Amino acid sequence: MSKLRLAIVGAGPAGIYAADILLKHERSFEVSIDLFDRLPAPYGLVRYGVAPDHPRIKGITNALREVLDSGDIRVFGNVNYGTDITLDDLKRHYNAVIFATGAIKDADLTIPGIDLDGSYGAADFVSWYDGHPDVPREWPLEARSVAVIGNGNVALDVARILAKHPQDLLPTEIPDNVHAGLEASPVTDVHVFGRRGPMQVKFTPLELRELGELNDVDMIVYDEDFDYDDASRAAIQSNKQLFVIDKVFSQWRARETGSASRRLHLHFYAKPVEVLGSDGRVSAFRYERTRPDGAGGVVGTGEFREVPVQAVYRAVGYFGSPLDGIPYDERHGVIPNHEGQVLADDNALMPGVYATGWIKRGPVGLIGHTKSDAMETIKHLVKDQGSWWQPAEPDEQAVLDLLQSRGVLFTDLEGWHRLDAHERELGDARGRERIKVVPRDEMVRISRD
Ligand SMILES: Cc1cc2nc3c(=O)[nH]c(=O)nc-3n(C[C@H](O)[C@H](O)[C@H](O)COP(=O)(O)OP(=O)(O)OC[C@H]3O[C@@H](n4cnc5c(N)ncnc54)[C@H](O)[C@@H]3O)c2cc1C
Ligand SMILES: NC(=O)c1ccc[n+]([C@@H]2O[C@H](COP(=O)([O-])OP(=O)(O)OC[C@H]3O[C@@H](n4cnc5c(N)ncnc54)[C@H](OP(=O)(O)O)[C@@H]3O)[C@@H](O)[C@H]2O)c1
Repeated sequence: MSKLRLAIVGAGPAGIYAADILLKHERSFEVSIDLFDRLPAPYGLVRYGVAPDHPRIKGITNALREVLDSGDIRVFGNVNYGTDITLDDLKRHYNAVIFATGAIKDADLTIPGIDLDGSYGAADFVSWYDGHPDVPREWPLEARSVAVIGNGNVALDVARILAKHPQDLLPTEIPDNVHAGLEASPVTDVHVFGRRGPMQVKFTPLELRELGELNDVDMIVYDEDFDYDDASRAAIQSNKQLFVIDKVFSQWRARETGSASRRLHLHFYAKPVEVLGSDGRVSAFRYERTRPDGAGGVVGTGEFREVPVQAVYRAVGYFGSPLDGIPYDERHGVIPNHEGQVLADDNALMPGVYATGWIKRGPVGLIGHTKSDAMETIKHLVKDQGSWWQPAEPDEQAVLDLLQSRGVLFTDLEGWHRLDAHERELGDARGRERIKVVPRDEMVRISRD
């Protein structure tokens, strides 16, 4: 075999790093890579997850763009695996496929009342404020008091965007409809609930500290949550991040509060029990107070409390979606795999099929972690050369003809550059980094010129 024709499905960081690592990998064959994404723009959650007021992290797209621009990768945007292109198509045109489809949905939280009006998944809200083309343009922001459930970085993102004064978001790439929506929000109090203690949080120091720097927002923490047990005290000594987090909490506990027009409350030892409603709408959040079990976990105390709120956001993790023809682990929302080699239902390796990123390992970890995922997957792909598919139509033109014959309005790398330049120009005109184009048909129209 002198050439590997590889399809990668998913142009988020995992898919792009996989392409980059393969191109740089020591190997005895040539490579040509086609990168598919259902969206007209690449970068996955870096574009549609990372918060707009985190421009430094958004800047990772510059490095990802360099990979795309390397000249060895063709990009096919606006192509959905499962409808526009199938596994049979991929087998006819390629030697192998890597699925890097990530996760976009919220994990479930099965408590009574979670389906009431005014109860939302964080992932949907994130998609809205980051201008994802597949969510409605309007978001109902009518609540004065809001509950955010979860103690990960997504919970802090959501709480920050809800509490931050919208004029402080204006310099960012926040879409116009989102700014207008947030401007109309009457919110005064955002309550974040963690089911464990302050030393068992999943969020990180930088993201926590940032909350304390919000203009005209008081940080409220409660003394009753800081009576640390031995396990928490030991955690502060052994874990640098928790050491810093504890320092941040100590500073906030010593701060004067009361002058700001908005408050962001952090409640710990609060296990969600029920979302209460009135006339079908959220009216309160009910939780059970927990206490440490001495080993990093918690047990219920039997004491129940209610906080009046008019909206609830659950930020209890993301969840991967199944892909047509590909095995799926329903419990964990991932593709079953051994170090990136996809496993069939009988646990045997599925030749030619690989996975990387969040769909391989679950929705936890930073952008950088998808690099090590990709290294592991590519190592196997290269080693498995003998078991790759033998495509009937390996010609590079054939897949273009196929998509065209199906009327798929795919976008390419040049089209992405066009859309990117257009967004930057829109931003330039108003002294902002970029203004995102949100509607899918407009993205496609601009990309396809
Ligand atoms: C709200 C949020 C904020 C975050 N902020 C940060 C941060 O500040 N810093 C940090 O380091 N990490 C952050 N992360 C984590 C980071 O986003 C992930 O580690 C990373 O994006 C995972 O990469 P991935 O490529 O596996 O998945 P994704 O980024 O989700 O990319 C998957 C791609 O696959 C495409 N796709 C899915 N299904 C199909 C299909 N059927 N056909 C074609 N294409 C498909 C999607 O459109 C998407 O482009 C954040 C995560 C979230 C949820
Ligand atoms: N700025 C950034 O760097 C940034 C921003 C956003 C996201 N990310 C990364 O993206 C990844 C995903 O973040 P995430 O916040 O979605 O996930 P996460 O870090 O796994 O946090 C999920 C949170 O939900 C809680 N939870 C889960 N089930 C629950 C339940 N039934 N009841 C109450 N609470 C529940 C968890 O509590 P327990 O711990 O008790 O299980 C945890 O606090 C993380 O690696 C994160 O660091 C990074």
